[in-house]
Amino acid sequence: MEKIIEEEKQGTSLVKENSRENSKKLYIESYGCQMNFSDSEIVASILHKDGYNTTQELAEADLVLVNTCSIRDKAEQTVRKRLEKYNAVKRDNPRMKVGVLGCMAERLKNKFLEEEKIVDLVVGPDAYKDLPNLLAEVEDGKDAINVVLSKEETYGDISPVRLLSNGVSALVSITRGCDNMCTFCVVPFTRGRERSRDPQSIMGEVNDLWEKGYKEITLLGQNVDSYLWYGGGLKKDYKDASDMQKATAVHFAGLLEMVAKAHPKMRIRFSTSNPQDMTLDVIETMSQYENICKNIHLPVQSGSDRILKAMNRLHTRAEYFTLVDNIKRIIPECSISQDMIAGFPSETEEDHQDTLSLMEHVKYAFGFMFSYSERPGTVAGRKMEDDVPEDVKKRRLQDIIALQQKHSRYRTEQHLGEIEEVLIEKESKKSDSQWSGRNSQGITVVFTKKHYKVGDYVKVKIEDCTSATLIGSPVAYGNLQ
Ligand code: SAH
Ligand code: F3S
Repeated sequence: MEKIIEEEKQGTSLVKENSRENSKKLYIESYGCQMNFSDSEIVASILHKDGYNTTQELAEADLVLVNTCSIRDKAEQTVRKRLEKYNAVKRDNPRMKVGVLGCMAERLKNKFLEEEKIVDLVVGPDAYKDLPNLLAEVEDGKDAINVVLSKEETYGDISPVRLLSNGVSALVSITRGCDNMCTFCVVPFTRGRERSRDPQSIMGEVNDLWEKGYKEITLLGQNVDSYLWYGGGLKKDYKDASDMQKATAVHFAGLLEMVAKAHPKMRIRFSTSNPQDMTLDVIETMSQYENICKNIHLPVQSGSDRILKAMNRLHTRAEYFTLVDNIKRIIPECSISQDMIAGFPSETEEDHQDTLSLMEHVKYAFGFMFSYSERPGTVAGRKMEDDVPEDVKKRRLQDIIALQQKHSRYRTEQHLGEIEEVLIEKESKKSDSQWSGRNSQGITVVFTKKHYKVGDYVKVKIEDCTSATLIGSPVAYGNLQ
């Protein structure tokens, strides 16, 4: 069940875009959400211009950067272990500088520098353009920190260097920050206010990816459905926009359509949709374009109205069901996936049963499930007691995972006997004679290689399945080929 439990991922860089003139070596690792992986590509691009090529060898690096995640305590512990490792390597290579980027940098500010003295550099998510200056300060023997959050920065003018890329799929960020203030979540504090990137720079990046041979993009934001470009800044200021700005504003459905129309042979995915902001016109746009993949990641976190309210999720269970029913009515083949939290403060057995019954109604294709982790500074962290005992959280999480596993199996079985379009992404982990890719619904499909290659769209007859993977035989090139 590789999809079921998302653990903090990590990766070193592997790029084709290194240049001969650059003499310094950057080793960059990313943890956490896709946005962090996308941000690391922006950082690599900024440093590329400052004379750095990326390397996969930690020991030979001049600069080691770790892009960090604060979403749960465990994610922060993982990063702390990596910092210990870098410092051990640094003992043999005193020239090496170590920097912390991203959400932990923002949350802990100068703690790493002043109290713990385990890094040379601390840079928050909106300050990456300041990296060359900060590095110059480090060279002068100073500690360097910039954790200023911005109301405007979208990095729209930076063309990311693709890290860890298969040359087929790429992440394109469309919004930054989040204005939602779910009571458990640290993101609004670490990533600041929500702002949308201008559509022209998004299209520019997508066009460039298409020219380089990419076949699939994922439009990224904490809350993509609230994308809003009106030539202004923050979404909250839209009420003050001029009539002209309002008449020409671009909403998410419009952006999605623009991208899908411009590149009919490129697959478009997006993540994440917050149920309270997802509108019917997004679902209708999805239904009209074959190249927009039929998967909606629609985190609900809990099935209990009382807990949803305490989480400041601004919809009810009934409203969520209406949205799911609309998705199924407009796009019957659409898969829906979830994020779920077990053991939020005050969650009772009855609330937990509500979560299970909500899952039973939706029967998600896959999901990412977590037990509640109290985050300092959040409303839940300040005002609610983390009162569900650890063993109860664990057991409820296990119930949720087991039920998801059952539903994943139910969903994969529905594909048996079908012929489905798959974009080949890589070799299967289990066999070098098989390709691995995903169908439109986001489910992994493996099949015999034959004469096909990475980046091809192939029609595959589905013959077998596990709860996470479809297994089949290639029949012909796909429609998007
Ligand atoms: N809107 C975001 C959500 C980011 S956090 C997105 O684009 O995905 C990803 C998931 O982590 C959340 O949906 C939630 O299920 C989980 N999560 C966030 N804060 C958490 C906490 N304090 N404890 C446990 N899980 C948490
Ligand atoms: Fe976090 Fe809720 Fe935003 S989960 S990222 S505050 S939508």
